Amino acid sequence: MNTMLVTGGAGFIGSNFVKLVLGEYRDIRVINIDALTYAGNLENLKDVEEDENYSFVHGDICDRELIKEIFSKNKIDYVVNFAAESHVDRSITNPDVFVKTNVLGTQVLLDEAKRAWKLDPEDKYSKEYREGVKYLQVSTDEVYGALGKTGFFTETTPLSPNSPYSASKASADMLVKAYYTTFGMPVNITRCSNNYGPYQFPEKLIPLMINNCTKKEALPVYGDGMQIRDWLHVSDHCRGIMTVLEKGRLGEVYNIGGNNEKANIEIVGLVIEKTGASRDLIKYVKDRPGHDRRYAIDNTKITTELGWTPRYTFEEGIEETVRWYLENPSWINNITSGEYQNYYKKMYN
Ligand code: NAD
Ligand code: DAU
Repeated sequence: MNTMLVTGGAGFIGSNFVKLVLGEYRDIRVINIDALTYAGNLENLKDVEEDENYSFVHGDICDRELIKEIFSKNKIDYVVNFAAESHVDRSITNPDVFVKTNVLGTQVLLDEAKRAWKLDPEDKYSKEYREGVKYLQVSTDEVYGALGKTGFFTETTPLSPNSPYSASKASADMLVKAYYTTFGMPVNITRCSNNYGPYQFPEKLIPLMINNCTKKEALPVYGDGMQIRDWLHVSDHCRGIMTVLEKGRLGEVYNIGGNNEKANIEIVGLVIEKTGASRDLIKYVKDRPGHDRRYAIDNTKITTELGWTPRYTFEEGIEETVRWYLENPSWINNITSGEYQNYYKKMYN
């Protein structure tokens, strides 16, 4: 039995990942540490909370003593770090917490994993680690910055982040790379494109538009709506992470994406069509400052080297996703009834 420390497992991707691991890898025990910020929701995990292979720790990845204690009480084999502040718009109004969690939190995890895994932690020259351990940093295509009309992000595209969010994620990636180069830590970094699917917090484009369509509220489209994102179903992302964890070459970065570029206005149109809402709800609003125009992933490395391919077509995925939100109104209502109202008013009015 191996033990995996998942951080941020009560969020959107983390909770989908925890359920994938518990469902399909019965030889892995999962410890989920999550600070339960506004984005963390234990309801996402109610199907697995009684699973004997699962345990939950309510805590902050920046809390070194707590992370140290988790490593000392458990023989951790893998760390998969999802914990982050993840919303670009929030990083524009409140960057501090992005630096704290995304950068300092990553450094604490790296440091404590190194201490627990290094065969001789006192020897600064030694690069020997316990057999089979790995730290995987869940990163994003946003670290590469923005593309023009053509071209793709490859793993060797220089990092050029534009928002406080992507700058903090790029900083974390550099720390991970530094721990590999300087200390020989067994690490991988994955950089995925935009995810969609069940349990995504409705501050993000797709669930926000679905929620507003069902409530017949305005659909706020930033700028001209012609910005392009490369969409991937969350379960394909999670399977990509497991593929890299199992087969990725140490020290390597792997992009994850499914060749699915869509303009935002196209996405909004699809959501309108699938929910039966009116196009009159579309409202063009002032653009996001520093808004990246286009993202597109070249997935050649993960597909050819590790054999990963996405299972969902976008058409299947978006159909299923819209249906999930429509069939789970209480999930979204529980989230949007509280603090979300204040966020929404401040952000959009
Ligand atoms: P999310 O905002 O839904 O979830 C983040 C989770 O981290 C929440 O459960 C939150 O409570 C927890 N968290 C925040 N700060 C913490 C802290 N200090 N200590 C412990 N837990 C903390 O985010 P998401 O969309 O699920 O993204 C997960 C990861 O994947 C992030 O690292 C993000 O950068 C990356 N990513 C996201 C996407 C996407 O499209 N959503 C794409 C590529 C990469
Ligand atoms: O590319 C991966 C990234 O995708 C992840 O690293 C981030 O964590 C994740 O939040 C996401 O970032 P984006 O900024 O691309 O996602 P968001 O859903 O916020 O916005 C998607 C696009 O839709 C973007 O071009 C902005 C636009 N948008 C968004 C919202 C919330 C609107 O036009 N109106 C809106 O109300």
